[in-house]
Amino acid sequence: MREGDAPKPTKEQKEISAMTTEEWNTYFSGHWNFAGAKQEGHLAMFPEELPHRLIKMFAFRGDTVLDPFMGSGTTSLAAKNLERNSVGYEINPEFIEIAKQKLNTRQPDFMGTEYEFLHDTVNGDVAAAIEQLPYKFKDPHKLDKKTDPRKLTFGSRIEKEGEAGREEFFTVKEILSPEKVMLSNGLTVKLIGIKSEPFTHDKAVGYLTEKIRGKRIFMKYDKLKHDEENLLLCYLYLENKTFVNAHLIKSGLVGIDSSYEYRYRERFLDMGELVQS
Ligand SMILES: C[S@@+](CC[C@H](N)C(=O)[O-])C[C@H]1O[C@@H](n2cnc3c(N)ncnc32)[C@H](O)[C@@H]1O
Repeated sequence: MREGDAPKPTKEQKEISAMTTEEWNTYFSGHWNFAGAKQEGHLAMFPEELPHRLIKMFAFRGDTVLDPFMGSGTTSLAAKNLERNSVGYEINPEFIEIAKQKLNTRQPDFMGTEYEFLHDTVNGDVAAAIEQLPYKFKDPHKLDKKTDPRKLTFGSRIEKEGEAGREEFFTVKEILSPEKVMLSNGLTVKLIGIKSEPFTHDKAVGYLTEKIRGKRIFMKYDKLKHDEENLLLCYLYLENKTFVNAHLIKSGLVGIDSSYEYRYRERFLDMGELVQS
């Protein structure tokens, strides 16, 4: 068997996987009509009917179905109900519990289904590991790489009850300049209102390194979310609510960017004047 070829089904496998004429006509028709899935806990669940149809069309009983974006596990549920094996990848570990519930893993079923949930963490140099891959997909479509502050976590988010308005914490990995810091998720953000000054540049970086590097922070945003370089503009706060932008200005190590309108512009200018006097 060549790599990439599906294993040949046995005669028996074909027989027990056969679709009825009605299924065949419905599934291979140009349009499908069925209701969507009620969204509970997950933002983009599809109804079981969707993977159910595709699995019947393209996999035999006993085959293994792969869903690289598993979410709540609807594909695995459809596969299980159709007596196929399945493998799923999901980047957000919070879905493990949801998938366990959906698949009813705690109840033994008459087929003796076995489940394995592996939680893996990527360590080391991801970019170097990607370089080693035999094939790298490069999307030819130009995407707008703006970061939506509401979607800062990777993968889909699970909205939990009472979570609205809760701060999301990040860790500062590196201070790139007095106004730019890199977070541990690789995102570079720019502190609103901060302008580096040539004479105090290094001191300001040292000040930030001491105060916020390696620390947990949360961010707030203004009307203008991105600068001309597409960097996310933020007000940065330490976990204990210390307002880093304001502290930096009060330290006298930075200038104030007043070239555009933002919520704290006047306050920052007043702070700057106090420092000067
Ligand atoms: C549209 S949802 C899939 C929903 C799923 N069909 C269901 O019914 O629950 C896409 C899922 O892919 C996950 N995801 C995004 N990027 C991923 C990646 N690189 N690797 C694995 N999962 C990823 C998201 O967290 C999200 O749960």
